[in-house]
Amino acid sequence: MTRQRLPKDDFFEKLDAQGLAVTYDDVRLRSGYSDVMPSKANIESMFSTSIPLKIPFVSADMDRVTEHKMAIEIEKLGGLGVLHKNMTPERQAQELAKVKNHLNGCVMKPVCAYENETIEQILNKKTENDYGFSTFPVISMEGICIGLLTQTDFDFCRDKRMTAKEIMTKIPDIIYAKPGTDLKQAYELMMNSKKKVLPLIDLEGEVAGMYVFSDVNRIVSGSHSSYNVDKQGRLFGAAALGVYDDAFARLELLIPEGLDVGVISTAHAASKGVIETIRMIKADSRYSKIDIVAGNISEPDSVRYLIDAGVNGIKAGQGPGSTCTTRLVAGIGCPQVTAVYEISKIADEENIPVCADGGIKYSGDVPVGIGAGARSVMIGNKFAGADESPGKTVFWQGKQWKEYRGMGSLPALEEHEGSRERYRQDDPDEKTAASQESGEKVRIAEGVPMLVPLTGPVRNQIAQFVGGLKQGMGYVGAKNIEELREKANFRMITGAGQKEAHPHDGMITEQPPNYNNP
Ligand code: XMP
Repeated sequence: MTRQRLPKDDFFEKLDAQGLAVTYDDVRLRSGYSDVMPSKANIESMFSTSIPLKIPFVSADMDRVTEHKMAIEIEKLGGLGVLHKNMTPERQAQELAKVKNHLNGCVMKPVCAYENETIEQILNKKTENDYGFSTFPVISMEGICIGLLTQTDFDFCRDKRMTAKEIMTKIPDIIYAKPGTDLKQAYELMMNSKKKVLPLIDLEGEVAGMYVFSDVNRIVSGSHSSYNVDKQGRLFGAAALGVYDDAFARLELLIPEGLDVGVISTAHAASKGVIETIRMIKADSRYSKIDIVAGNISEPDSVRYLIDAGVNGIKAGQGPGSTCTTRLVAGIGCPQVTAVYEISKIADEENIPVCADGGIKYSGDVPVGIGAGARSVMIGNKFAGADESPGKTVFWQGKQWKEYRGMGSLPALEEHEGSRERYRQDDPDEKTAASQESGEKVRIAEGVPMLVPLTGPVRNQIAQFVGGLKQGMGYVGAKNIEELREKANFRMITGAGQKEAHPHDGMITEQPPNYNNP
């Protein structure tokens, strides 16, 4: 697909001709004629070729940002949470299971009752295991589904010594469907038949899943319609992967729990290990159902390596993050807005979504990043202070803070193989001058630990970011994300322009939730 010429191309090409690159604080979007009311702007987007976003916000795969609580909350608000990998594959799979099973869209492994179990035994099992449900497919001793027990059967059972087989509703008096039936199809089948339970039964007659109407109805038409869910009505599952053996060890455990997208998260994705790992995953039919997003890169030349290897999404950004010192330590990196623009320009030709990762300080940075070409933004810092982040809360100088840290910070490198791999400091043959003399490994930090203010539920932060993005779209006259990407044009601003943008000549008397002094 050839990309059409866009208004912003002139701006970036002129800069490029002078060897210049810009970042968020250097530029602002030009406003234009608008018939778009901000509240009406549609901000649905894509994280990767098959993972949609209802809001274009992704929480970073960092060990002080995204575990199951953050992922669940962000996805209930319409975004995506990528589980970090500074934990064992086993624990990461448990975290993923919590996300995937949080909503009972399609219950993938329903608890079944055996035909000869008594109602008393089943009720005891329910109490012992604290099951909050009363619907059980009934299976024969050979594992074949023969009927269904529901709350009604329990309510009207006069003799608890009766067996499941004696009181269940039998096939063919229940409806059932094939595995693979999606949430909307399940909804229609249940509406049309007025049945409240839909087991999915495979060709061998075994139970392969189950929909329950109350859950399905809530997700399809109720207050849950803003949730970012897969076709079975389950929250999306996104998790960070390393390279080679690490990626495969994780995939082996994550896929059975319902992984939707693996994010190969490294400091430098245009590297042999990342490219070979993407190719190996893409060549293996066991992984054909998941998307692979890889990052990070900041140069246009790096894009082709990732696209040719088969990625479904790209993460852009080397060193813009609030905890990052990569640019100072290693001397590399491109200011973020130019990086996002140049990467997206090439990725657009193949329709591969780009996520602008790192450096978001104000909500106004989001329309700038998306205007430059990204389809989503990844945020660490501004979500790390939320109640749902795994960082410790500390009380310091009369205020509450949360611990946040770069994945390449010293403590993260020392504690976790995941961080050493991400920053390519896991070479077993590594010998530096210092390590040769003392026998100790010298860690080269590319990030810092810090404290960020405690901000309460992440939904507060998201509300401000969503609102700011929509306001920006209203000024540009973009009714959806694609229009913002197409219409966006920029002005470069000077230091005086930047100073002018902040409140000046007075003392702020009430701090708004979306602004803090630089
Ligand atoms: P923010 O600005 O939201 O950025 O805190 C989050 C992103 O920063 C990246 N990251 C790092 N980059 N050294 C780096 O150079 C680090 O130690 C580090 N830790 C995180 C990462 O891309 C994340 O999503």
